[in-house]
Amino acid sequence: MQHIISSKELSKDKIESILNRSKEMEEACKKGTVEPILKDKIVACIFFEPSTRTRLSFETASLKLGAQVISAENAETNSSAYKGETIEDTTKILSSYADIIVIRHHTAGMLLRASKVSNKPVINAGDGANEHPSQALLDLYTIQKEHGRLDNLTIAFGGDLTHSRTLHSLVPLLTLYPNNTFYFISPKELALPKEYTDSLQKNGVNFKEMNTLKDGLKDADILYMTRVQKERFENAEDYEKVKDLFILKKEHLAEMKKNAIIMHPLPKINEIELEVDSDPRASYFRQAENGLYVRMAMLEYVLKG
Ligand code: NCD
Repeated sequence: MQHIISSKELSKDKIESILNRSKEMEEACKKGTVEPILKDKIVACIFFEPSTRTRLSFETASLKLGAQVISAENAETNSSAYKGETIEDTTKILSSYADIIVIRHHTAGMLLRASKVSNKPVINAGDGANEHPSQALLDLYTIQKEHGRLDNLTIAFGGDLTHSRTLHSLVPLLTLYPNNTFYFISPKELALPKEYTDSLQKNGVNFKEMNTLKDGLKDADILYMTRVQKERFENAEDYEKVKDLFILKKEHLAEMKKNAIIMHPLPKINEIELEVDSDPRASYFRQAENGLYVRMAMLEYVLKG
């Protein structure tokens, strides 16, 4: 049985097999030849935090593969968590009903706790500011599809690097491939936490921290923008101070490489000017579509290995 809790546990071989299967899933979806390999299985999607793409694409992926879905989309108030039930008890019950359990939680570390008591595979759909491995896998799939490679790339991350769990999961995956360079661009209040920069340094990964978007745009093969994560701030004032500091504008596009891509896990609020959406380099809607194929491959992987 396989859980997917942290991207750091995924080996290159496992990643490659999920990415290859994702491609086959995409082709089968487009040809209408998806096999119902999860027929008679039940997938539980339990979300303690809001979600559009992650929950609905996991549910669509399950249905496409022939599974049935049980879900709690507002589990913080609509499940027994509201009455004070622990994640362990909730998970034990879920694992007696469902064959695969997908959980999003607002607290870092909750998914690890859930996986420890589950006798069914658990997938982390985001735990606090910690990790979001299914997003990282779909990001890799998108990079592979759009650039044809996962190595020798310069990736500029912009925005809220302190709280963005998507990049906390993506960076470790990209460091598995040779000669990638990272630019971490953010206001100093939203810098990448020290534990991440320490680990990159220790592993000899090439990276630079910068404070203005302009500085990193010219060399980037990928600009990965993130939303300022309002829900992770301790007080509204701190959020107000930084929320408008980082905006990718139409005028920035002229400075970027012709074949660069602009990624964003979505939802985007105001960190990308609307006019950027129509630039062919804006890949975020294609990226979100890829989430379906990658999550189909992930569901198969956790059940069958
Ligand atoms: C991200 C998340 O939930 O971390 N969204 C997503 O799953 N695509 C990013 C975000 O909310 O900013």
